[in-house]
Amino acid sequence: MRDVAERWGYEEIRTPTFERSELFTLKSGEAILKEMYEFRDKGDRHLALRPELTAPVIRMYINELKMAPKPTKWYYFGNCFRYEEPQKARYREFWQFGTEIIGSDSPAAQAELIALAFNILKSLGVKAELHVGHVGLIRERLRVANVAEVQINTVMRFIDKGERQAVIEFMDEIGVKKDLIDVLLFLLDLKGKDALKEARDRNIIAPDSDAMKELELLLEILEYYDVDYTLNLGIARGLDYYTGMVFEIYEAGGKLGAQNQICGGGSYRLAKLFGGDEIPLTGFAFGFDRLAEIFNVDDKDLERRGVVVVPIREKNADREVLKEAIEIASLLREFVPTHIDLMNRSLSAQLKYANARHDSFAVLMGKNELGEGKVTLRDLNTGEQEKISVVDCVARLKAYFDLN
Ligand code: HAM
Repeated sequence: MRDVAERWGYEEIRTPTFERSELFTLKSGEAILKEMYEFRDKGDRHLALRPELTAPVIRMYINELKMAPKPTKWYYFGNCFRYEEPQKARYREFWQFGTEIIGSDSPAAQAELIALAFNILKSLGVKAELHVGHVGLIRERLRVANVAEVQINTVMRFIDKGERQAVIEFMDEIGVKKDLIDVLLFLLDLKGKDALKEARDRNIIAPDSDAMKELELLLEILEYYDVDYTLNLGIARGLDYYTGMVFEIYEAGGKLGAQNQICGGGSYRLAKLFGGDEIPLTGFAFGFDRLAEIFNVDDKDLERRGVVVVPIREKNADREVLKEAIEIASLLREFVPTHIDLMNRSLSAQLKYANARHDSFAVLMGKNELGEGKVTLRDLNTGEQEKISVVDCVARLKAYFDLN
């Protein structure tokens, strides 16, 4: 994932594990505290373990890196904490791999990020389905009807959770007219490539709507990137800061069950709220644990991959053999993970350890061999072994690991 992000010109950034809790409540209100690990430290500061990395990254940008050339393109990989009911692929501590573009939410920036996410999954061989939406369309519609911003946020949260009935009841309760409720439900149900055309044909979205124009251009650029998408205006996202395009990616190979959302993101605003100049932002984050779950990596599947250097010591402290072993290990450590006994174990115990760890080769060295300037190179996969010179041994292992 790092490789792909770096080839697209993104640089890694790290932020602290905890932040002042207001960083997260400023946008979402105190209600978000219920969903976070928050506490007071000895200086009575109200802190929170980060529930995500977008707000921390933007805070860091404003505090430290405002002068970076724009657009600034960052990626991160870090642990996050949310006070949720744990279940399969939903944890209280989990990892995100994400990116943020600071300085642009143009259709070109949006498309680049979606295409990057798509390419990361392609490089991992993950089967996925991408849904693209735009919260601006729904927000715009509600704003025109004078629905207050906090109420719009509540509606968006119900939409995000797929609670259709709650959307209807809440809008009814705050006095939204039935016509508008119907329009909203119609928008939520629109899916597929022709959705925009349908909304326009029915006069539900004005053709000169900024959100509409932006979305149309984005979809066109996605075609240039050869990215397959489903247009889904029902995507609302759980976080409050999104202002424009939003997208979600779901695992499509049936490996994850209910928690199959592996990536989410979109365009948003946060900089002014955090005390900086307002600046357009776009980003996404992958749920790393969910990706790991797809591969279901098992110890047994790991390839044999390292080398163990085994000094065969006759007595407990045969310094000469140990010295030589360390010298060879240092040569091997230039290109392959190399282990050396740290527990003064017998030859068989050292080999057992190497097998358990899936090493590929053992380099055995005893006093006699050393006298001849030789070692025994044993292939742990086949059990074959050969006495060769130290130079040949290193060269042979180098050739092997360059290839494998
Ligand atoms: P999010 O959708 O809340 O977005 O989280 C991103 C991804 O993290 C989800 O798609 C999911 O795969 C994973 N995830 C979330 N909660 C859990 C959990 N409890 N256990 C395991 N995995 C989880 C964000 O966090 C935004 N900051 C994304 C973003 C970046 N938007 C703009 N820039």
